[in-house]
This record gives sequence, structure tokens and C-alpha cells, in this order.
Amino acid sequence: MTDATNRFSAVLASGLLIGALVLLSACGQKPAEDADAAAAAEAPAPVAAPQVNERGVQTVDADGNVAPFGMASRKPVPLPEPAAAPVAEVAVVAATSALYGANCSACHGQDATGVQGLGLNLVDSELVAVSSETELVAFLKEGRAGDSPDNTTGVPMPSFVWMSDENLTEITGYLQSL
Ligand code: HEC
Repeated sequence: MTDATNRFSAVLASGLLIGALVLLSACGQKPAEDADAAAAAEAPAPVAAPQVNERGVQTVDADGNVAPFGMASRKPVPLPEPAAAPVAEVAVVAATSALYGANCSACHGQDATGVQGLGLNLVDSELVAVSSETELVAFLKEGRAGDSPDNTTGVPMPSFVWMSDENLTEITGYLQSL
């Protein structure tokens, strides 16, 4: 062998040695990295406990999501059910007269359409339709006797002469509104 060949061999050998060392160190590190990654993958993900603030609003959910600033407080707050408005009741009161209900409805019906064998239908009444307020008040004060020539049923219409003009006028107004 020549000197040149020896030198080449020496360089080659050291080159191989360095290469082998590099390879070895690379191989030696890789498994260690894999083991770390595997360990990290196996470890259970940290579970955040849901958090609720003093007003009962959840600020952190089970996935660890934090409610953005201000959003938690904007969750709809349930409002108390509003009490049912007495609309129907008001309507009933407006459509009838308490005085009529107390003094006339027994014979003429709650809706003034009459009661068979007692009072006539006042909604269809010709007398109510053509009479003035004064005439109707006068009629109510007098009533109509069972044997009166004007009586059509034989049943008497009682006199309301005892009632105040004010109340009779109110009832008359109700009859004329029918
Ligand atoms: C005891 C039952 C009775 C009561 C209470 C009564 N009525 Fe009568 N009413 C009659 C009868 C019966 C007649 C119909 C008489 C007839 O046959 O003509 C009559 C007739 C009338 C008529 C005339 C109808 C028509 O077309 O001829 C009017 C108006 C009337 N009543 C209004 C009233 C009002 C208002 C009240 C309450 C303040 C009242 N009545 C209370 C029995 C009653």
C-alpha cells in the first residue's frame, strides 16, 4: 500500500466513524422522543371543572371554554310570568250593567234576550227601539200590569218607581246600547 492509499483509508475510516457516530446519536434519541410523545398522548386531557359565578351563570363549561367577557351576564334572565290581565273581565263589565243584572236579568235574561214565560226579549224590543230615554224611564217606573191592554203575555212587568232616576237612566242607557 502507498502512503496516499493509507491516508485515504485513514480519512475514509474517520469519515465512516463520524458518520456512524452521527447515526448512532440520531438513533439513540429518536426512541426517547417517541416515548415522550406516547406518554403525552396517553395522559388524560386535563378536564376543567365547570365554573358558575355567584349569580348562577356558568362562566366556564365542562370543556374548559371560558365565557367571553360580558357574555355570561347577557344570558337571558327568565322574567316572572306576568299576571294574566283581566281583559275578559273588563269586557264583560263594560258590555253589561250591574243594575240591569241585579234588577232585570232574572226575567229578561243576562244578555237581555228574554226568558221564556217571564220577560220579553229587550234586544229586539220595538218599544226600546222607538222610545226616548225619558219615555223608557217613565215606562220602567210604571211597569205593565198583567191585565193592561198593552200586555202581550199576561205576565206583569213590575214597577221600578222605587228606583232612583239616576239608576233608571243608567239601565235605560244600557237597553239602548243593545
Ligand atoms: C218579574 C219579571 C220582570 C222583571 C224583574 C223585569 N221585567 Fe221587564 N218585563 C217583564 C214582562 C213579563 C214584560 C212583558 C209584559 C208584556 O207581556 O207586555 C216586560 C216588559 C219589559 C219591557 C217592554 C218590552 C216590550 O217590547 O214591550 C221593557 C223595556 C222591560 N220590561 C224592561 C225591564 C227592565 C229594564 C227591568 C229591570 C229594571 C225589567 N224589565 C224587569 C217582566 C219583568
